[in-house]
Amino acid sequence: MDRITPKALFLRRRELLKLGAGVTLLTSAAARARAAIPHGPQLPGVKPNPKYSTDEKKTPFDDIASYNNFYELGTDKSDPSANADKLQTRPWQVVVDGEVKKPRTWKIEEILHSFPLEERVYRLRCVEAWSMVIPWNGFPLADFLARHEPTSRARYVAFTSAVQPQMPGVRGFAGIPFPYLEGLRIDEATHPLALLAVGIYGEQLPNQDGAPIRLVVPWKYGFKSGKSLVRIHLQETQPPTTWSQYAGGSEYGFYANVNPEVDHPRWSQARERRIGEFLKRKTLMFNGYEEVAPLYAGMDLRKFF
Ligand code: MTE
Repeated sequence: MDRITPKALFLRRRELLKLGAGVTLLTSAAARARAAIPHGPQLPGVKPNPKYSTDEKKTPFDDIASYNNFYELGTDKSDPSANADKLQTRPWQVVVDGEVKKPRTWKIEEILHSFPLEERVYRLRCVEAWSMVIPWNGFPLADFLARHEPTSRARYVAFTSAVQPQMPGVRGFAGIPFPYLEGLRIDEATHPLALLAVGIYGEQLPNQDGAPIRLVVPWKYGFKSGKSLVRIHLQETQPPTTWSQYAGGSEYGFYANVNPEVDHPRWSQARERRIGEFLKRKTLMFNGYEEVAPLYAGMDLRKFF
């Protein structure tokens, strides 16, 4: 009689995963079976912001911290947590420069002591058609930018993620160039929903989620939310971004607002799978954050996607 070895089972599971059959069920079962994901230190003084809450079920910590996109740490969903120790988060500096009256290089500790932390529960919709509900801890990007007094020429904000030589993904085989670059228009960046996050579930951000500080722009596809930021540069012209340049611009453009009516070249964006759920749900315009619609008044969102 054939004996099914653990190795054979593992390979079979990989096959199933590749086929996409019940991906989320398997991945969250895998998350439970696997050794627990380490937790970081508690963040002091986090206050829930009731304005940015939801009745939706929050995605468990272990899923948020084990099913990741962070190409600098590898391209499989489980790579960033497996390689989390390859991101060095101390010492850490964030440079803010360009079109500001008060440029500054911050030590991460100074940032953590200068901005009161709130909890905001946001939906995260990845361009790959999966989603989560994440209790972020952070502060409005608008408050952070205001400290530096943007000039009247500051029309865009460019975000640069860290590149460290020991990160396994930056050595050339991840398929995208590094550093990871993202950008927002200044009115998007100063919209009250745009957040700089330093934690989840009241704890310091796990490295794989973009420690020590990352962007969260909940009405846009997840790739707009750059992780492990080292530079925030205000400028007059639209900055180049990693994914809008990818494969000659065949993916999404600069805006990348969640839009169920604009398909990805290779798949529909009409529905999404919430991690931990089996059936797909409808994707909402702006990921359900309709209050941002005035930012795009008069723009054809089929053209500017
Ligand atoms: N930031 C950097 N620096 N590198 C990345 O590969 N991936 C993006 C975004 N930010 C990415 C990044 C994508 S595609 C998504 S969906 C989100 O991070 C995922 O965030 P999460 O892993 O914390 O859920």
